[in-house]
Amino acid sequence: MLTSQVLRVTARATSSLLLPSTQYAGKTIPRTVKMIARSFQRSTPAFLQQPTQRDGFFEAASCKHITHFEVGPRSVKVEFFDGEPSEYPYVWLRENCQCSSCFNASAIARAFLLEELDLTITPKDVQLLDGNIHVEWHDGHVGVYKGDWLHHRSFKPAIRAAKRSHYMLSKELWSAKFGIPEISFVAAFHDDQVILDWLVALERYGVVLIKGAPLRPKTINQFIDRLGFVKPTHYGLDYELKTEVSPNNLAYTGCKLGLHTDLPYYDYAPGTTWLHCIRQHEGKGGDNDLSDGFFAASVLQKEHPAFFDFLSTKQIYFQDQGVAMYRFNKLTKWPTIVLDNEGQMQRINVSSQSRDSIMDLDVDEVFTFYEAIKTYNDILYENSIRVKLQPGDILVLDNMRVLHGRQPFDSSTSVGCRHFHNAYIDWDELRSRRRVLQDRFGIKFS
Ligand SMILES: [Fe+2]
Ligand SMILES: [Zn+2]
Repeated sequence: MLTSQVLRVTARATSSLLLPSTQYAGKTIPRTVKMIARSFQRSTPAFLQQPTQRDGFFEAASCKHITHFEVGPRSVKVEFFDGEPSEYPYVWLRENCQCSSCFNASAIARAFLLEELDLTITPKDVQLLDGNIHVEWHDGHVGVYKGDWLHHRSFKPAIRAAKRSHYMLSKELWSAKFGIPEISFVAAFHDDQVILDWLVALERYGVVLIKGAPLRPKTINQFIDRLGFVKPTHYGLDYELKTEVSPNNLAYTGCKLGLHTDLPYYDYAPGTTWLHCIRQHEGKGGDNDLSDGFFAASVLQKEHPAFFDFLSTKQIYFQDQGVAMYRFNKLTKWPTIVLDNEGQMQRINVSSQSRDSIMDLDVDEVFTFYEAIKTYNDILYENSIRVKLQPGDILVLDNMRVLHGRQPFDSSTSVGCRHFHNAYIDWDELRSRRRVLQDRFGIKFS
């Protein structure tokens, strides 16, 4: 069985939702559930093992010997054995000298200080020895720059793009015909190669459904501990969703919950939301609505550019107050659609529940805000999917991107019945884990 086949999708899925084997750089990794069980017998969790090579993904490559070089006024141009040229500024070479006084290899950290850096530095001598560049500087310092090392740090666009994808995988946006990638709990929990599969799926699609988890609270805490650590909030490390008589959150009622992201009133909102269904409401309702906030925002940008501009620039207050682990009073402000400095979508903040009634807007802007947010909300629902989680299901969501809501259910017949358990983990930890596993298995993704 190919690793990618462990991930399957629901009936509405299209083939593009499966991770094609070509994304594994031609590698096919046969795994079985039996092998999964054996891999869990290791005494030291594999992800705690030290990498054998610094920055493994980026370092692992064919030998890129340098065959020629040309000294210029501000940089050296080199040519690798395959004829590929690349150029390196002297100021960059000096700061990135890899000798033990300039770079602490055990800390994987630069020891060289900016105050020591001469912006106009030029070399006294450059030599090519065994395919590597040796640079003698005027202060007597000598730096050795290996061909492979230089190639990985090339300033050429294609090589910079490889680093960008290692930082963050490209996303596949989806709409109403999407089928959620599914994976079995046993495989998802125990096998590192399968963990890599579903982490990649989560990063690309923003949602993964894990099936067959044990029906006990704290299961997701144990799961998250395999990956990194739980993100605590004022609700603690985790919380249980059961219908309550005097709820401190609408989630504890049976009413409909509109599509939202969790905890937008945090500056550092949780990167991913984990919903573990231990017991589902029997009867109508209780389904989860899901929508790709980035897809809906891209539709909004195309069809209503003024609304997109408004929602991506005007900040709105989000608040939450109450008592959970302690008395809390959270307040922050965010645009609905957060863009990075290149105009790429980074984070969605939507929650009618916790959007503040105090708005730092002019009256005219208030009208525009409501037009824009209702239009966005309509697009979100038009392109949403609905799933009714079953006991043993764990729904993992990219809380920066995928919104979730809940269909109403009759709480009078459900008190003490519908039982969900929730926890969070940040993307820093999940992407870190994905990179560690990629390095170990020598797998590249675009
Ligand atoms: Fe929520
Ligand atoms: Zn040095």
